[in-house]
This record gives sequence, C-alpha cells and structure tokens, in this order.
Amino acid sequence: MTELISSVSGLRGTVTVPGDKSISHRAVMLGALSNGTTHITGFLMGEDCLSTIACFRRMGVDIQITDSEVVVHGVGLHGLQAPTELLYTGNSGTTTRLLCGILSGQPFSSTLNGDASIQKRPMGRIIRPLTQMGANIQGKNGNLCPLTVSPASLHGIRYEMPVASAQLKSSILLAGLYADGKTTVIEPAPSRDHTERMLRGLGADIQTEGTVITLTPPDDLTAVDVAVPGDISSAAYFLVAGLIVPNSEILIQNVGVNPTRTGILDALEAMGADITRVNERGDVEPVCDLLVRSSKLHGTTIGGDLIPRLIDEIPVLAVAAAFAEGETIFCDAQELKVKESNRIATMTAELSKTGADITETEDGMIVRGGKPLHGGDFASYADHRVAMSMAVCALACEGQSEIDDPNCVAISYPDFFSTLSALEANS
Ligand code: S3P
Repeated sequence: MTELISSVSGLRGTVTVPGDKSISHRAVMLGALSNGTTHITGFLMGEDCLSTIACFRRMGVDIQITDSEVVVHGVGLHGLQAPTELLYTGNSGTTTRLLCGILSGQPFSSTLNGDASIQKRPMGRIIRPLTQMGANIQGKNGNLCPLTVSPASLHGIRYEMPVASAQLKSSILLAGLYADGKTTVIEPAPSRDHTERMLRGLGADIQTEGTVITLTPPDDLTAVDVAVPGDISSAAYFLVAGLIVPNSEILIQNVGVNPTRTGILDALEAMGADITRVNERGDVEPVCDLLVRSSKLHGTTIGGDLIPRLIDEIPVLAVAAAFAEGETIFCDAQELKVKESNRIATMTAELSKTGADITETEDGMIVRGGKPLHGGDFASYADHRVAMSMAVCALACEGQSEIDDPNCVAISYPDFFSTLSALEANS
C-alpha cells in the first residue's frame, strides 16, 4: 500500500493532535501499580500504547477502553499476577524498557518480546543497571530481546547514566519502587520527566536536583486521574508543514509543553519560525495551543543538551532544514541510530531523493537547504516518524510523491493522513 501526496498551496485550519505517547504509557503502567481506579482521558489509541495495555491485562489488570476514556483498575504495587503467556511489546521501546524495570521487582518470571525492530534495539543499557540492582534478566546474546526476567530482591543504586534516555531513567526508577533503599539516577542531560512528575502526583517521594533524581521506595501509590495532553511529537509534523508550505496558518490545540519536550520549539524559533504559544495552562503537565504561520527559515546548529529535548522530532526537523536557507548541522545525535530505524541513515536516504543536499555524519546530519525540491517515492522503513516526516516534505516538493508502507503511522498517529487532508481542503 502507498499514500499519494501532492504539493499544496496552503494549509489552514485547526487541529487537535492525539494524546502524548509517553504520558499515555506511563498512565497505564502507574495506574496499574496504584491503589484505586485511574480514569485516563486523552489517551493515545496508537499501537504502541495498546501494547502496554495488552501486557498489563496479561498480568491480571482490569483495563476498560470506552469512547471517552481508559479506566485502569489498579492492583497496587504488589498485585500483578504472573502472565501465562509472553508479554508482547510490539514496536514499542517504551513498553519494553519500562516494563522490564517493573518486572525486575516481581515475585514471578516473565518473558518480554516485540517485533523485528524491537529485537534489534539495545537492551544492554537497561540490563546493566537493573542487574546492578540485583535483577535477574536474561537477554538474547546478552543484550537483545526476548528478555526473560526471573524473581529477585532489588536494592537501591546510584547510577550515572551513559546516555540521556528517559526510557533508561524510567526503567531504573520503576525498578526502584521495589528496591530496599533509595535509587538515584544521574543524567548526562535532562530527558523527558513524565515518570517523575506522575510518581510525585501518586504520592511517591522523588527529588530532582538538576540532573540528579532520587526515589525513596513508597509503601504504595494512590491512583489519580490523568488528562493526557496532545503529543508535541505529533504536533511537530503540523508545525513544520505550516512553516514550509506557503500561505499556511494552523492552530494546534492542547499540546503538552513540558520543558523537557519543547526543544522542537526552541530549534524552530532559532531557524526563524513564526510560532506563538497561546492559552498556556495545565498543572502536572503544562499545556498550550500553538499557532504556526508560514515562515522563511534559515539554518542553525542543533546539538548538545537540546538533543534529548527534541530526539523524536529530528526527522521532521531535517525536513525543515531542507527548506531553510543555509546550513543546518545536527550533531550529538548518535541515539538516532537505535530508534525504530537508524534515523540518520533513513532520513538522509529519503531526503536525498528530493534533490536535497544532505550528508550523513557520525553523530547527525548536515543539511544545506533552500533550493527547490521535487517529489519522489519515499520508503518508510516501517518507521512511523520517517513516514510522517516524508509526508510533510512531500507537501512542499514540486509534483507528486508516494509514501510506501504508510500504515506504520498507526504506531503513534492513526488519523495522521486524514487530518493532513482536512488542512489542505481548507486552504
Ligand atoms: C521515550 C523516550 C525516548 C523517545 C521515545 C519515548 C519515553 O527514547 O525517543 O519515543 O517515553 O520515555 P529514549 O529514552 O531511548 O531516548
């Protein structure tokens, strides 16, 4: 199957992006481990988050999905039951890594596995610290899925993380719920802090001082309802589309703007983007509406501590860079190589098909933008973010383009193509 996309003369209208993927996963996981019932509104009904629900159902957690909410009947910290089958995590790195942390502290054995992409992604990064805590985890070839987790008693550790990864940090903290003392993680740079915010909201003692985070294991967690904000990683496609397609004005409603996630706004603003935050609100997680208008972009450098704050948005930022005047350098972004695809390689290959001047480097890409680009036949590599980024690119390329295997967008944004078409129709 392919998706045909033609160049458009403007995008106009209002969109509401689906719920934040990271927060949706955590709401189910922590809801399951709480005492009481959690009502989750705005939950992302994407395949990744549905994998998380399926895994917790397999451990005896009653989770109901209605039109308006997901209801998790918590079993408490010590109420999960041994799964009778494999815990299948699909394409989801967050499900795999966070769940492995939780399973490390359970009194039963379990096995986790996912799809072909998950089976290639590095798990050694979580196995090492979890093993230091006392966990008993066997991975294929030591550091790959499937992972078999056997019962163990955990103790708290102080761990200096070698990579700024929220999945790694969260996996350790979730295991820390079951440890016999405090767990401290030290990040090389701040990564998304949704786990810490949610744990605090559920009554856990979790202290953050700069990049040092310390959890004291709680006796229990008390369920609190969660209103999941829109995912800024999904909003990113409309931000860049609105910027690079002339005569565009898009209002993106109810977007989560947690400062650990807003690197995309900082980068685009440095490139000359006209984006306004309106109606700022929210408590546990800050939220606003984003108004974007077509802009003349210029190149910039995107690296250092900014990278973890926009890691999932780099594919679509590379598209923005291809339409920006001058050079954009992406550096310190080696982590892109171990995402759903090697996003340095896949984005370089696909953007090159448009005539864009882009060079792959050891830790990123150099994009020399600003010349007219043409459409092409783009591969998605079964990577949702590559598919959506190239769809956005196609809107501003001359002629028609095809996106191969577009259904992978269902991982994080099932209605992506219809939402895009509605904006075109309005113009
Ligand atoms: C996520 C963390 C990031 C991100 C992923 C979601 C999370 O991964 O790329 O899409 O929810 O914690 P890393 O922790 O591997 O950087």
